[in-house]
Amino acid sequence: MKPLLAGNWKMNGLSASVNEVEKLIGMFDGSAPDDVDILICPPATLVGLFATEFSDEGIAIGGQDCHRKASGAHTGDISAEMLADAGAAFVIVGHSERRADHGETDAVVCAKAEAAQRAGMTAIICVGETESERKAGREKDVVGAQLSGSIPRQAENYVIAYEPVWAIGTGMTPTIEDIAAMHDFIRDRTRKDVRILYGGSVKPGNAREILAVQNVNGALVGGASLKAEDFAAIIKAAL
Ligand code: PGA
Repeated sequence: MKPLLAGNWKMNGLSASVNEVEKLIGMFDGSAPDDVDILICPPATLVGLFATEFSDEGIAIGGQDCHRKASGAHTGDISAEMLADAGAAFVIVGHSERRADHGETDAVVCAKAEAAQRAGMTAIICVGETESERKAGREKDVVGAQLSGSIPRQAENYVIAYEPVWAIGTGMTPTIEDIAAMHDFIRDRTRKDVRILYGGSVKPGNAREILAVQNVNGALVGGASLKAEDFAAIIKAAL
């Protein structure tokens, strides 16, 4: 399976950030490598600009969230159709920051994944346990419930991102054995052709080891995707 290296820029980036992506492409002699899929999910304000600038350079562009409906009276929200219209091919749904900050339940995440599919995009469905859930030994129960609640029944094209909440932005990661165990667990509950990404403090220094784990089919990278050098090093670790 071709690895997917996805950068989640979160609430970071202005129009001048085009330079950072150009720098990234420059690190691969001007065109993205064929052996990996590279995705950048900038804030919604930059999706159209990035899609125009970079789709011909082998970099896919994605949104970080979408509304479940195609249009309507939902001030401040963006639909999957709008993201697709702006040139996005992917959209992250159910990121733990959305689940925590906006109270998104599995049912909401599932509806957003369906919206992505309806708009012709690939949803990256995020799951992951909190620190207290892991300490209590409940991580597989939690992730199993999130998977059954968040993946649409008629799902076609989707990606799963396993992101332990306690590893996001903290510099902490599970052990390689724990990552392997969780990815095997997720593989048993998803189709064989679905990519399962690991996310949470992926850095140039740990990417190679994590990406070598069976059933880790790429990474969802936050902080380290903002710097061209770091994201390039992570991409190279997958080659
Ligand atoms: P991080 O974030 O790489 O900064 O830990 C990952 C994510 O939230 O997707």
